[in-house]
Amino acid sequence: MNPSKTALEIVHHLPPHYLERTLREDVRAGLSKPAKTLPPKWFYDQRGSELFEQITQLQEYFPTRAERSILEDHAWEMAAASPAETLIELGSGSSRKTPLLLDALKDAGDLRSYVAVDVSDSALTEANSGLSRAYPDLILQAVAADFESQLQLLPKDGRRMVAFLGGTIGNLEPDPRAQFLTQVRELLGQEGGSLLLGTGLVQPPEILIPAYDDPSGVTADFNRNVLRVLNAELGADFDVEAFEHVAVWNAAKEWIEMRLRATRAMQVQVPGAGLEISFDWGEDLRTEISAKFRREGIVAELEAARLTVVGQWTDADERYAMTLAEPS
Ligand code: SAH
Ligand code: AVI
Repeated sequence: MNPSKTALEIVHHLPPHYLERTLREDVRAGLSKPAKTLPPKWFYDQRGSELFEQITQLQEYFPTRAERSILEDHAWEMAAASPAETLIELGSGSSRKTPLLLDALKDAGDLRSYVAVDVSDSALTEANSGLSRAYPDLILQAVAADFESQLQLLPKDGRRMVAFLGGTIGNLEPDPRAQFLTQVRELLGQEGGSLLLGTGLVQPPEILIPAYDDPSGVTADFNRNVLRVLNAELGADFDVEAFEHVAVWNAAKEWIEMRLRATRAMQVQVPGAGLEISFDWGEDLRTEISAKFRREGIVAELEAARLTVVGQWTDADERYAMTLAEPS
């Protein structure tokens, strides 16, 4: 084993004071308006990342299992259709499904490096130390960056596959989603390369709601974790247990909304954002959307970003799709 090839390189691209500054801005923007919202990227401190991992093991939560099964059956086809020298994974989290893709890309040809990109430091460190043992021949990079604003900092040379797994694209609202896809298209440039996109598909609410409101309460704990992050990072005094976890299927928008509902009227101080916030009894704070897609809708959104679909695969229950697209 050549140590120079297995050394774990962690590149920090997040701007100075990213956490405090961006969180403060998001909190000011989201909590001072009448319909309160927070962006979902703040769930993922160490505890949040661990809770998400627990969610992926739940019987009710289908996306992870479905995506894994698609990769088990078809990763070799994806790799053959789009062999790459570098795999860049956005929002890589634990990178647990990534080996299926790495193995297929290695078999297909010239894979040399893997770049994991996430805002969560703890997830990156954890994931890449496991991978460096399993893939001593690959150059591994862990990049702490925000995939909504920092794609221009990622490697631009060689043939790249950008993987965005887990259905995380569904956590972006339609406009930012379109902007994100345009930025991925720019990252791919003229060099050749592809985007591999995982998306949950529209399902009946009887399937979707339990996936986001499991009886064991893990998702509720994950949802409330964002308040713990605000308490820790901005000195807020949220009484976390005074908020009830709510998951609603918005049929018009075709997305799940996770909300935290105040079980009593309260005032919350958020000194780090210079805010005092009032909650009425029963008032909701929307913490996440998780959009579900239709196969033709995915193709249309990719085409709008000048990406042409070259392959699409679903699991046996048609709950999840993986779409491979290349610059048009
Ligand atoms: N891809 C993994 C993890 C999904 S959880 C899977 O399929 O299981 C979503 C991940 O995206 C988390 O690790 C979170 O920290 C990361 N994330 C969320 N918003 C992000 C952003 N704006 N930039 C970079 N990473 C982000
Ligand atoms: C990371 N993301 C795709 C998950 C989802 O399904 O939207 C986050 C999650 N929220 C609740 N459960 C899981």
